[in-house]
Amino acid sequence: MASIHVLGLVCFSLILSTHSVLAALDYEQALTKPLAAIDYEQALTKPLAAIDYEQAFTKPLAAIDYEQALTKPTSAIDYEQAFTKSLAAIDYKQALTKSLLYFEAQRSGKLPPGQRVQWRGDSALKDGSDAGVDLDGGYYDAGDNVKFGFPMAFTITMLSWSTIEFASKLETKNELSNALDAIKWGTDYLIKAHPQPNVLYGEVGDGGSDHTCWQRPEDMTTPRTSFKIDEQHPGSDLAGETAAAFAAASIAFKDKDPTYSGKLLTHAKQLFEFARSHAGVYQNSINVAGQFYSSSGYEDELLWAAAWLHRATDDKSYLDYLGQAGNTGGARTVFSWDDKFVGAQVLVAKLVLEGKVPADSGPWSQYKNQAEQFICSCIQKGNNNVKKTPGGLLWFLPFNNLQYTAAATLIATVYSEYLSPKRASIQCSGGIVQAPALLDLARSQVDYILGSNPNGMSYMVGFGSKYPTQIHHRGASIVSFKKDPSPVACQAGFDAWFNKNAPNPNVLDGAIVGGPNDSDGYTDSRSNFQMAEAATVNTAPLVGVLAKLA
Ligand SMILES: *[C@@H]1O[C@H](CO)[C@@H](O)[C@H](O)[C@H]1NC(C)=O
Repeated sequence: MASIHVLGLVCFSLILSTHSVLAALDYEQALTKPLAAIDYEQALTKPLAAIDYEQAFTKPLAAIDYEQALTKPTSAIDYEQAFTKSLAAIDYKQALTKSLLYFEAQRSGKLPPGQRVQWRGDSALKDGSDAGVDLDGGYYDAGDNVKFGFPMAFTITMLSWSTIEFASKLETKNELSNALDAIKWGTDYLIKAHPQPNVLYGEVGDGGSDHTCWQRPEDMTTPRTSFKIDEQHPGSDLAGETAAAFAAASIAFKDKDPTYSGKLLTHAKQLFEFARSHAGVYQNSINVAGQFYSSSGYEDELLWAAAWLHRATDDKSYLDYLGQAGNTGGARTVFSWDDKFVGAQVLVAKLVLEGKVPADSGPWSQYKNQAEQFICSCIQKGNNNVKKTPGGLLWFLPFNNLQYTAAATLIATVYSEYLSPKRASIQCSGGIVQAPALLDLARSQVDYILGSNPNGMSYMVGFGSKYPTQIHHRGASIVSFKKDPSPVACQAGFDAWFNKNAPNPNVLDGAIVGGPNDSDGYTDSRSNFQMAEAATVNTAPLVGVLAKLA
């Protein structure tokens, strides 16, 4: 029912804003005249549940001259068929299912009996043994075999946010348990990585040695060194993001598994205290992370963690922390594994919208205004708008742009959920923006990613009829060890598989690649890691957006 309500609002706003639609409104009157052949009113009212009007409206409206159509023979245009076609083109439910399968392909450690992605097997079972701890499990971040704790924790926070906001939609689509499994594969590992309140393992394996080889995770021969932060070697960003992940995950599990949820919350609280009391940037303690996932600062992670801990506990001390922040981030240009200010701003804006903090005192309205400035820039009504490709993709940065698009898309979707029940809107410098417009933005970006783009190519692997085939991904690009168990040696992998100009033997379903350049161009080549590498941070935010759209 909620979605029909939203659709109604969209139609309403379009009617108000588009002259050509106003002309089209004369249908009802026209219907009483010669249009006996096509009953538009019936067509509009009957298939509402089945037909995606919102999508159909946003696309073909510009292309169709209704006035001209009315003067022509009406039999020429079959609107219902056109609507049905555009609906059939994008199957959000299938995309949602694949998005969660992707996390199974990225699993490290001993795979569980329910593992659905069958070309993968157990790997890195001795992780942590060099330090006398069990660090089996967790996720490989992208196309290599390193477990990077910083983006892994952000991935878990994004999966949890997606699951918290859209739990009932996920349940309806039979994907809630898969979403919780995806979170738990990460949090089970992060629990092991946090053996003492002020000790957190933040990486296993190192990018340098890993990148000199091209091997399946199942038979990699590179060092599996464990790296940690502690009181003498702090990392407030890593500890803060991991606290945020634990706190958000504790909310996701609150109903389904209260005991586990409580355990997650304990880890979250300890890590937040560790992050606050031992200040520092984590790559100064874990140097090997610096070349790959260098953090630009930790103030954002501390606010982000406090916001999630407040949401998980309702404890005023976390609110006080947010209230005393000297720097709430300002207007940001991205939301990413490195920069969480927008996330913290949006969570505080939710509190303002709900009347839980005063809108007119302290820094609360500042958080909200800054969150909304980011959203305004995405929807092209701000002072410093995000660039768009000619095909309509939000384009932030050249290297793995889709990670930023995906994260911004979750922000737009979640914010539309926060605005809707309050009937609130955003005052952008370019005009007022209401909740349905935010959802339209999210849908336009998802549609682009899933194939509505100048290349007609889906940037979600395995989705649609045309998608990238040469993903920069060690496991997917080498024959499954189940088909050919003979080990692939370090250099042999480059010769036999990396340099092979042929599709990957294993389809990495649900992976979102780095994506096109600012001219909508894409090269399906394994060596182009800026475009052709997928990462867990790309897909995680889309889980919630796809659940909303499915
Ligand atoms: C974008 O990518 C396409 C395909 O790789 C390429 O042909 C084009 O030159 C690129 N454009 C820019 C501006 O880099």
